[in-house]
Amino acid sequence: MEKILVTGAAGQLGTELTQALVEKVGAQAVVASDINERAADRFTCAFEVLDVLDRDRMEEIIDAHGVTQVYHLAAILSAAGEKNPLFTWDLNMKSLLNVLELAREKQLNKIYWPSSIAVFGPGTPMVNTPQDCVMDPTTVYGISKLAGERWCAYYNKVYGVDVRSIRYPGLISYKAAPGGGTTDYAVEIYHAALKGETFPCFLEKGTYLPMMYMPDAIKATLDLMDAPEENIKVRSSYNVGALSFDPEGIYESIKKYIPEFEIEYHPDFRQDIANSWPDSIDDSAAREQWGWEPEYDLDTMTSHILDNLKVEK
Ligand code: SER
Repeated sequence: MEKILVTGAAGQLGTELTQALVEKVGAQAVVASDINERAADRFTCAFEVLDVLDRDRMEEIIDAHGVTQVYHLAAILSAAGEKNPLFTWDLNMKSLLNVLELAREKQLNKIYWPSSIAVFGPGTPMVNTPQDCVMDPTTVYGISKLAGERWCAYYNKVYGVDVRSIRYPGLISYKAAPGGGTTDYAVEIYHAALKGETFPCFLEKGTYLPMMYMPDAIKATLDLMDAPEENIKVRSSYNVGALSFDPEGIYESIKKYIPEFEIEYHPDFRQDIANSWPDSIDDSAAREQWGWEPEYDLDTMTSHILDNLKVEK
């Protein structure tokens, strides 16, 4: 029987992916872990406190639970990473190497590790960014994700580790808050709209970025992990696209439901990061090799979030 360990399970992606895994394979087959011990009561499966830099503790958890797959989600994101570059490098890289080494030593069945559109940079073609192209990331987060992609491909080629990865666009969700990303405005804007507040946007209008609604991100992840091993030709990380909009586009989408909503533009240091990232993504490899197809467009996402997000006014 498979047993799945999720690291960073209390994060924006982890919260929903862990729940989706529990629904798919049963609570007895999932172990959530996070550095935040107070997150334990969010989960219906087993929970372990884990600092992903602590390789011995990670090994202990894998052994104690008979873990066969790891979804290694713990990381520091783009904007937060710029405030502490060397620690971000250490956390993002050493933790991935801890997971890959344990996967090699213990012959774990499958590893999932998220990459990001942050692997791209100013030299990258910005529209319909290809799977393979110039990648010159300018953030320490992006550098760590690009290096991580190469390590994943290396462990697959040299040691046969079945590690799979997706370059997520900005992930939009309402169940758990994102932390320290450049695309977080597209989550915060819904909270402001429902509270009846003017939204101070930290990116300028016209800043197009690739984005994705969380249910599509969960579907992409589970579909990739379920695909037959021989279909997975990309062992660095797959481009996956869904939405592409700028702050004005999401604002207009919300105004269809909340006409009095207002936005102001106050770009900060995150504008430079956003300017270096693609506008939209060519995801034909994911579509051809494991059947990727998103479900939500901007307006269906907006209506779903506004119907479900509860804010304290
Ligand atoms: N959403 C992430 C960030 O903004 C990109 O992977 O850092």
